[in-house]
Amino acid sequence: MASPPPPRVCVTGGGGYVASWLVKLLLSRGYAVHATVRDPSDPKNAHLQQLDGARERLRLFKADVLDRDALATAVVACEGVFHVASPVPADKVLDPESEVLSPAVKGTLNVLQACSANNVQKVVVVSSTAAVYFNPSWPQGRTKDESCWSDRDLCIKNENWYCAAKTIAEETAVEYGEKNGLIVVTVCPCIVLGPLLQPLINASSELLVYIIKGGPRVLKNLPWNIVDVRDVADALLLVYEKVESSGRYICAPNRISTNNMVNLFKKSYPNYNYVNCDNKDYESEISPVTSEKLKSLGWNPRTMEKTLLDNIEYFEKAGFLRDGEGYPCRLPHIFHFASD
Ligand SMILES: NC(=O)c1ccc[n+]([C@@H]2O[C@H](COP(=O)([O-])OP(=O)(O)OC[C@H]3O[C@@H](n4cnc5c(N)ncnc54)[C@H](OP(=O)(O)O)[C@@H]3O)[C@@H](O)[C@H]2O)c1
Repeated sequence: MASPPPPRVCVTGGGGYVASWLVKLLLSRGYAVHATVRDPSDPKNAHLQQLDGARERLRLFKADVLDRDALATAVVACEGVFHVASPVPADKVLDPESEVLSPAVKGTLNVLQACSANNVQKVVVVSSTAAVYFNPSWPQGRTKDESCWSDRDLCIKNENWYCAAKTIAEETAVEYGEKNGLIVVTVCPCIVLGPLLQPLINASSELLVYIIKGGPRVLKNLPWNIVDVRDVADALLLVYEKVESSGRYICAPNRISTNNMVNLFKKSYPNYNYVNCDNKDYESEISPVTSEKLKSLGWNPRTMEKTLLDNIEYFEKAGFLRDGEGYPCRLPHIFHFASD
């Protein structure tokens, strides 16, 4: 008897940092994957074709998230969609609407509408703890959970366009699911670190390069919430496969201050400059977040030490830590809040 066809899912923005690990995971679990990319012929997406199982079960579709017809073509015959594509700008945003807000918010709506029109059963949307943290009404010191939403107006007032975009996009996704009877589950990762599959560096990895190489700006000794990119991929698949998953899931298992991160690296890699950091203790000023909801679904993330040490080892191998021309060391604008 012929075996049944593999379950088919779509991943938007398939060539990005998080999405590449998700595509890899899905292929390893036997899924057929439709990955959307803006330019299938761009060498920056070539790594996808090298993944195990890609030849048999991966198809690339050309789609900007602002092009609903292209998205509709990509989700045909898919039972599930992982909406990952959204700008994570490393540079200062000059035109918030076109650079961040529209691709995040209209892009999400387009994906959801394409899903409704093509009988997709379940959509997992990648949001961010950026859509959780910025809530001035939350009691100081109380652990933030999925009931905490960033205040979109405050984000806009502060010109924090990434946070505004992620908050409005997630609100839009949740509301769309409720109104249209589509199962929409959202996952909110904190800062994602760990090895890269894609050839070009992304914004959160650039932050770590800056900390290790020691950029010119002094950083605050802030507590960073970090999660391994491989654990984010696991979380996305877990919430997809568990029929009982619903609502949002914070994905932020670890917290470490800049100084403690530098000290951890120095034990195994003493020879880098590392960033200079103030000695203030910000712990009590910044409420912790909990990932208990995701853990109670069965999520079991790696230790923070494993994530950070695998990451620096990968950076060394890939040459990201070299000095000189062609090896920049800049603090992405999105993280400027962490410097004086
Ligand atoms: N990295 C983190 O620390 C972090 C933390 C929390 C949440 N997230 C979320 O995780 C997701 C992936 O981020 P990442 O860290 O993997 O960053 P990334 O590597 O920069 O990936 C972003 C992806 O979005 C795609 N994209 C952007 N604008 C698009 C558009 N108009 N149409 C189609 N695709 C578009 C990019 O495609 P191109 O390659 O064509 O530009 C890229 O594939 C995002 O939703 C982000 O908000 C990331």
